[in-house]
Amino acid sequence: MNSRSIFLIVFTLLFSALHAEADAKGRLSGEKEFEKHCASCHPDGANTINQNKPLKKESLKKNGITNWQGIVAVMRQPGPGMIKFDQQTIPDKEARAIAEYVLKTFK
Ligand code: HEC
Repeated sequence: MNSRSIFLIVFTLLFSALHAEADAKGRLSGEKEFEKHCASCHPDGANTINQNKPLKKESLKKNGITNWQGIVAVMRQPGPGMIKFDQQTIPDKEARAIAEYVLKTFK
């Protein structure tokens, strides 16, 4: 094995390790941020203020929310009883992580 292929192997291993860590962080932060900003009114994806609007997949779908963009739109422009989350409070990237966590977690 020459030094070039050793370099390539080391590089590939390092890169995939970093990538995996970033993924794990992304998932973790979605959950953590949900707990921090949303769980007070939406514990386990429920809705303590308006029981007709939980965060379960089927219920969201009934209201036309089928992807992360739809959930982020609600955070930016919420309905009655929900507080507004602007860019300062939750930047787009974080908002998307929360939204994907919601879609994947509450069935
Ligand atoms: C102060 C309580 C409160 C907090 C905090 C809160 N929500 Fe809500 N949420 C509500 C209420 C009340 C509604 C119903 C509003 C309406 O009638 O349209 C709602 C509705 C929603 C909906 C739309 C559900 C539907 O079927 O139309 C989504 C999505 C949602 N919230 C996501 C979130 C996310 C994500 C967070 C955290 C970033 C969050 N909410 C934080 C109270 C809250």
